[in-house]
Amino acid sequence: MKTYKRTLVTSALPYANGPVHIGHLAGVYVPADIYVRYLRMKGEPVLFVGGSDEHGVPVTIRARKEGITTQQVVDRYHKLISESFEQFGISFDVYSRTTSEIHHKFAADYFRRLYDNGKFIEQTTEQFYDPETGEFLTDRNIRGECPHCHSKGAYGDQCEKCGRTLSPDELIEPYNAINGNPLTKKETKHWYLPLDQYQQWLEQWILEEHKEWRPNVYGQCKSWLDGGLKPRAVTRDLDWGIPVPVEGAEGKVLYVWFDAPIGYISNTKELCEREPAKWGNWETWWKDQSTRLIHFIGKDNIVFHCIVFPSMLKADGTYILPDNVPANEFLNLEGDKISTSRNWAVWLNEYLQDFPGKQDVLRYALTANAPETKDNDFTWADFQARNNNELVAIYGNFVNRAMVLTQKYFAGKVPAQGAYTDYDKQIMQEIQGSVSEMLRLLDAFRFRDAQKEAMNIARAGNKYLADMEPWKLAKTDMERTAAVLNLSLQIVANLEIAFRPFLPFSSEKLRKMLNVQETGIDSLGKFDLLTDGHQLGEVALLFEKIEDDAIQAQLDRLARIKKENEEQEKAEELKNWHPAEIKAATSIDDFDKTDIRVATVLDCKNVKKSDRLLEFTLDDGMGGRTILSGIAQSYPDPSVLVGKQVLYIANFPPRKMMGKESQGMILSAVDADGRLVVTTVSAPVRNGAQVG
Ligand code: MF3
Ligand code: ZN
Repeated sequence: MKTYKRTLVTSALPYANGPVHIGHLAGVYVPADIYVRYLRMKGEPVLFVGGSDEHGVPVTIRARKEGITTQQVVDRYHKLISESFEQFGISFDVYSRTTSEIHHKFAADYFRRLYDNGKFIEQTTEQFYDPETGEFLTDRNIRGECPHCHSKGAYGDQCEKCGRTLSPDELIEPYNAINGNPLTKKETKHWYLPLDQYQQWLEQWILEEHKEWRPNVYGQCKSWLDGGLKPRAVTRDLDWGIPVPVEGAEGKVLYVWFDAPIGYISNTKELCEREPAKWGNWETWWKDQSTRLIHFIGKDNIVFHCIVFPSMLKADGTYILPDNVPANEFLNLEGDKISTSRNWAVWLNEYLQDFPGKQDVLRYALTANAPETKDNDFTWADFQARNNNELVAIYGNFVNRAMVLTQKYFAGKVPAQGAYTDYDKQIMQEIQGSVSEMLRLLDAFRFRDAQKEAMNIARAGNKYLADMEPWKLAKTDMERTAAVLNLSLQIVANLEIAFRPFLPFSSEKLRKMLNVQETGIDSLGKFDLLTDGHQLGEVALLFEKIEDDAIQAQLDRLARIKKENEEQEKAEELKNWHPAEIKAATSIDDFDKTDIRVATVLDCKNVKKSDRLLEFTLDDGMGGRTILSGIAQSYPDPSVLVGKQVLYIANFPPRKMMGKESQGMILSAVDADGRLVVTTVSAPVRNGAQVG
């Protein structure tokens, strides 16, 4: 293993197109923060970079939706996002933004350097163009008819109706999604990073030299590499972004995925230039081989951080490369994918309104459930259980008992340490075991299991108190009572340190309660952290129970959102609905072959064991008949059909379904949402009458 002198930790720059939610926190920012807090505790030099990603199409879409300028959007969300991070204790050393002047210049210079050194290829292609607005369109902003299912309004990258992946070229009659204008094609020149030229080098660097990366990360890289890399455009025809610093590139900007990762570098530079005495030269952090670079990201960012950005760094040639990219999978919310546009999320700013002061509870629940190896689900029930059954019942309860008993028997002063019994030693060993396991797991980016070990320390403490029963001992043996409480308080002091990376606010509170200063990680696993006679601070509750009604309120909110979304989607679907195409021409002879008649429904009921079929008993004017019809889903109460005159095809050969014979077919209209509506006549007629 490479020895290193400092660690540079980056966390994905969130798009400034909306507030941040629990998925962001669980996937990227809490793990990154745990890691840097841990390194700082070890006394290792570490720099933690964050910032807002303020370019790209997402922010422009948001601006259009809200009817404000793009600058207003990024200003609003940059502020909101950085406040949320601060409130949740995400301890960035720098949190800047990609619209900053220093970043614009740095990214443009970076591009220009690669350009001057011939690292790009130029290519002219035909792209969709709106002649009225003079704009080239991105895939998502192009809509048209789906070539497969012929629904109107499919997107240039996907048809949401049939789910097929599309390219804008396949759309029938493409139009501008924003203004409906028809599109033409126009030639445009772009610069491409020839990733194919980096393929071999990447294969060696990732597949051979980084087999230790997480399986999900390694696997995704391998499948990209196996598929063969192709040149990637690093410029776009857009008016929002960093202008391409090349003559003849008017109206073009750097692709957001080109400029954003450079933001890690420019933000570092910004910090170093602001506080040079503390941080030194930015180049030490980015170019010195003894710097270790770690990217914290979500799985949708893997290709950019493992393949594209490293190729950009390699193209420059003076930069270090990431040592590890501990990407997480996704966190779902109550079984559904988190979605900003569908408001299916727990927003951090809203969480704090509903649960003021409970930052650590969310940090704890998200780490306990971190999607480190697979997608995971956040549920409010789990959140409540983690709080009530773990933070309150184990950690908080132990701390509280140790403190209150010391208050009661020793006036809040740390009682004298006694000679250790075998049982004491066993508990101490157990705790040391948890400590070393926790440290090993932190080094391996396994934060979920590491946090479990921290909780195991509290478990051991609880068990110790329960077994020793100092409240009983106090009646007979004050010396042993003192010894038991001393060790208990030493365990509390260990918990303060062990939980510090995970639950920084609680540890701070606990330090006040213990009346101690922050110490280094070396103190972990020691049992002489509090000296005899040390005066403790005031006892306070570390955590409090979360009641059912607070959880129910959250579930109600989600249920409301789900209902609104469903209604909106239905309305959208109806809006996009258009009748099926008229079938190929036919003749009266063909039609005459089909014998359509009128009958009165005498009875209509569900067929047992079938959720699809209804059984109609009809007066057909010819002695009666039975018809089975697959429309049960559309008629939750089939009795509404009784007494109605319906139309049916009388000359289909009888068919058996679910053991019953069906003698014909009831005619129904198919509504936009798939609902079936039985046809009828507009005035009473005789049963058996022919329709034609
Ligand atoms: N904004 C991107 C996203 O949210 C992440 C950018 S990471 C960076 O998916 F490396 F480009 F900065
Ligand atoms: Zn389709």
